[in-house]
Formats: sequence, structure tokens, C-alpha cells
Amino acid sequence: MLKALRGTRDILPGETEAWQEIEAKARRLFSIYGYKEIRTPIIEESILFTRSIGDWTDIVQKEMYVFSDRGDRNIALRPEATAGVVRAYIENYTGQLDPLNKFFYIGPMFRAERPQKGRQRQFHQLGVEAIGSDNPYLDVEVIYLAVTFLELLGIDEFVVKINSLGCQKDKLAIIHNRKKSIAPYLEKLCDECKARFDKNVLRIFDCKEEKCKEIVSNISESGDNNGLCEDCAEHFDNVRKGLDSLGVKNCTVDSKIVRGLDYYTKTVFEITQKDLGAKDAICAGGRYNDLIKELGGKDTPAIGFAFGIERLVLAQYGEGPYKEKPPLDVFIAVINKPLFKEAFSLLIELRGNRCRCDMDYEEKSLKSQMRKAQKLGAKFVVIFGEEEFKRGKVILRDMASSSQEEMGLSEVVQQVES
Ligand code: HAM
Repeated sequence: MLKALRGTRDILPGETEAWQEIEAKARRLFSIYGYKEIRTPIIEESILFTRSIGDWTDIVQKEMYVFSDRGDRNIALRPEATAGVVRAYIENYTGQLDPLNKFFYIGPMFRAERPQKGRQRQFHQLGVEAIGSDNPYLDVEVIYLAVTFLELLGIDEFVVKINSLGCQKDKLAIIHNRKKSIAPYLEKLCDECKARFDKNVLRIFDCKEEKCKEIVSNISESGDNNGLCEDCAEHFDNVRKGLDSLGVKNCTVDSKIVRGLDYYTKTVFEITQKDLGAKDAICAGGRYNDLIKELGGKDTPAIGFAFGIERLVLAQYGEGPYKEKPPLDVFIAVINKPLFKEAFSLLIELRGNRCRCDMDYEEKSLKSQMRKAQKLGAKFVVIFGEEEFKRGKVILRDMASSSQEEMGLSEVVQQVES
């Protein structure tokens, strides 16, 4: 039997309702905040991701799905959406007058990671990107939006961790300082972190290996934020004050938040949630003020975040059961085959009146059709029986009270819609 690829899964009816509700709430909230939906392609030139996420990041080195297409072009399945949104912004919005453009997206991403709870190879993100301002209030807006979204879904016990990597110059200084502080422990790090030391030292600071975590927590990182230039320190201070003034709870400054993608500068943040287990990051984001210029656009500051939808569903419902399916208004049971035509006409008429209505096309016994109506949660069952129909009637059964009545078809339409 052919099966879904490892790290991918079918999202089946019963669970899709939970996804739809999360997506509908996101669309509504994001639009209240002025974000408009953007849909970018799932495939892009690989170079877009190597240039933005960074050559030496885990995503590019180990996780990206890359292939040559029939024209021998180097293509990647998008591992995240920020790079594609920036590419689309440069391609479609350059030269327009509006300085600030706010986008949101919902869709699948692909990373060849080791699958585990909350970690898939095809996973889904919903996120926002606000392009065109370096105002710290925009950072506050974006982080507050993420927190408000979790509250709207009723997900609690989350922690917001924020940090600042400073501008490009500050970031280089931070990398230099961290290299110096980690150098004496190099031999004790895991093999991956040994390799990261030269090319991506910041990643060592969010390695999940116990021995690396211990070394990192013992290293004094004081001086990091002091290492920020005056502008970046003031920016970060304003972000913190802004979040404070909005009463954002469970928000802490954590210098270990460095993010696994190269494009970040200044404010970075992660939101973790208690029920998610080892993969507890439900949302992550930050500023990427240099990315648009680096990808060939004008010098334009920007900030955004992405939620993992699988993790939102897990935090909201655990492993299931998920949201109740919407109940059926009417189930139509047909006892005699010749009455199928009339029953089908009623089905179409009720659906035309926006009534959730269904029937069994299998010509089974009345008992089996009633069982199905029960399973589907039908409020009413309309029974087409030969005797009643000869008198121009059908039976309308109210499933909640188990009472039933004979009536004409036009009366049925009135009753079930009232
Ligand atoms: P990221 O931290 O790579 O950031 O991913 C964001 C979120 O996507 C994670 O916090 C997690 O919830 C979810 N996620 C990531 N990988 C997986 C996976 N394999 N399976 C399930 N969920 C996963 C970004 O992608 C940035 N583009 C975020 C951003 C937007 N920064 C600025 N704007």
C-alpha cells in the first residue's frame, strides 16, 4: 500500500475543522491590524533561500528540499515564507508611494528534519511581514499581535522571549564576543556545534543538546546588550517599554534567543508553550532590516513572525479529539427505490435554501439509514415511504424528541427551516 511520505500527513475531516477555525480567526485578526493576504509560490529559485536564510544555517545545509527542474534550474521547496514575501515585495511593490506594506500568509513549508511530535517535513505556517518601518512601535504591534492571537485561540501558558541582535555592526560584535566566550569550551560541544563555531557561532547558543545547553548557561553573557550601539539600545528599550505598557505578561529578555536564520537584526523573539514538549516554539520572528537591500531592493526595514499551525492545533486540542463537526440539519431516508427521484429533488431544494442536508445513496434498510442520520448528528430525518407517499406525504422525524409527523413536502421545507 502506498503511504504518505515520512514527515507528511493527511489532515482529515474532523481535524480540518480545527484548522479552518484557526485560519479564520487569523484572517480576521490580521485584517483588523491592517495586514493583507499574500500568496507566494511554493517553489522558488534555491538561491533566494541561501542568500536570505544563510549558507551555513541548518535549514540550507541540511533541511532544504532542492532539485533541478527540466530546464536544469536550481529550485527549492520553500522552507519558510519570509524570503518569498520579500522577493514578491521587491518584484511587485518597488517604486510605489506607500512606505509601509503589511502582509499575512498561510500555507505549507518544507524542511527535511527528523519527524517528531510537532515537527513535520511538510508543515504549515501562518505569519505576518510588515515591510517599510523601523519604528519600535511596529515591533510592539507585531509581538502584541502574536500574543493576542494566542489569547484569541484560548491558548495559555506561553512565554514570550525577546532579545536584540542589534544592527549589522552590533551583530558582528556580538558574534565576536560569543566566539571568544565559547572558545575555551569548544572541545566539549556536540559535533554539530564544533562545526558551527566558525560559520554560525550564534546557533550554538540555542542548541538543544544537553551538554551544549549547560555550557551556554554557564557562560556569562553580560555585556551583550551593552554591546548594542546607542540607537539599537534605545530601540530595544522602547520595544520593552511598549510591551510593558500593553501589559504583555510572561515576556522576558533572553540573550539566548539568537534565531537559526541569518537575516535577523535588532529585535528577535520566540514564543514557547508548555504543552508542546521538546518542540515548544509555537511562534518566532524578528526584524530583518537588511534583507530587502541584500536581495536587490531598496534599503527598507521590516519585521515579522510565523506560527507553526500544527503546533497551534496541538496546543489547543492536544492529540484530539478536535472541534465538533457542524451537525446536519436534515437527513433524507428513502425506503423505496422509485421515490429516489422525489427525495433527490427535496435534497437539492433544501440545499438551495442553505440547509445542511444529505442522504445515503446506497439504498440500505431504513434502520441503517437512521443509524447514519444519528451518527451525522442530523436534527431531522425525512422518511420517504411508499404508503405515505401515495397520500402525498412523507414522515418528518425530530431526532431530539424522537417525535414524528406525516406532512406534505412544502410543509417539510417550512418546518426544517424555521
Ligand atoms: P522559524 O523559527 O524557522 O521562523 O519557524 C517559525 C515557526 O514555524 C516555529 O516557531 C514553529 O512553530 C514552526 N515550525 C518550524 N519548523 C517546523 C517543523 N519542521 N514542523 C512544524 N512546525 C515547524 C521562520 O520560519 C521565520 N520565517 C519567521 C519570521 C517571519 N521571521 C520574520 N518573519
